[in-house]
Amino acid sequence: MQLQSLEADVLDQVAAASDEAALEAVRVATLGKKGSISERMKSLGAMGPEERREAGAALNLLKDKVAEALAARKMALQEAALEARLLTEKIDVTLPVRPQGQGTIHPVSQVWEEVVQIFGDLGFAVAEGPHIEDDFNNFTALNIPPEHPARQEHDTFYFNEKPDGSRMLLRTHTSPVQIRTMLASKPPIRIIAPGRTYRCDSDMTHTPMFNQIEGLVIDEITHLGHLKWVLAEFCKAFFEVDDVKMRFRASHFPFTEPSMEVDINYTREGGRLVIGQGDSWLEILGSGMVHPNVIRSGGIDPGKYQGFAFGMGLDRIAMLKYGIPDLRAFFEADLRWLRHYGFRALQVPTLAGGLT
Ligand code: PHE
Repeated sequence: MQLQSLEADVLDQVAAASDEAALEAVRVATLGKKGSISERMKSLGAMGPEERREAGAALNLLKDKVAEALAARKMALQEAALEARLLTEKIDVTLPVRPQGQGTIHPVSQVWEEVVQIFGDLGFAVAEGPHIEDDFNNFTALNIPPEHPARQEHDTFYFNEKPDGSRMLLRTHTSPVQIRTMLASKPPIRIIAPGRTYRCDSDMTHTPMFNQIEGLVIDEITHLGHLKWVLAEFCKAFFEVDDVKMRFRASHFPFTEPSMEVDINYTREGGRLVIGQGDSWLEILGSGMVHPNVIRSGGIDPGKYQGFAFGMGLDRIAMLKYGIPDLRAFFEADLRWLRHYGFRALQVPTLAGGLT
């Protein structure tokens, strides 16, 4: 009888507990070390065997019932709490954007997306690599051995020496992604790799951090003609003109042979730059056929495979396309500048819908 009234009492308390803390208090008061049920368990020791068996079974039953009731109540309370929280966190996504809080898409993000769209349409995938690189991927594997003069030209940011004497660095170009991609995949390869790059350099047209976009195609028959066609298609789509004149100038990069720098034609109309007209030239990228040593470093047989690569300044083509004069302003996070040069957030560039 006593146990029955205890049970009824405890179950009432469980049902009445209005939050998890109250429920925990009921648990401690019953099943806790000094709880009412635990105390009764202790008294079993003083009973005779027959009496103990009976009382023990009844107590264990009660204990299980209470534990079950506690667990069920806990679950119900948690569900109710979640329900209440979801109600308070409800947002109405159909509400219009507040005009004063409207941000803009940075020209670099915009151009990045445009470039991905254009090359995506040509069958290129997007590849990535880390900003903190090792010497192998940034230099050696790209046919720039230690002591090569090209290393000086890169104004590299180095990290402190590691115990083994090696130093990590901030990648000076996106070309290490060529190596990483070749090592990680099999030809045919067709990728672009947009991303941040770093050089210790700062003036009107140089910032210590800037963005490049790398291109790499490796397969059995790809040749210079393909490179020229891809770049011409890109320029027309990107600058949104029917025709761009391109000038391929012989140049030198350790990782391509032959190497070419590419200029496009432009003219000025009242201070504004017009791409694809006139006969002044603007350099926009470096390119060439991937050097056999680089293909070999990428774990691919240069006797069987060949291809082209190019590297373009993303910020630079953004400046050209949108008539932005000073590169440094790109990275000053000045809201007035962003409101002037930025893009509407919901206007995602697509080839079908228009790039800008
Ligand atoms: N990595 C070169 C640079 O930063 C650009 C480049 C890439 C040139 C690929 C040729 C081929 O200047």
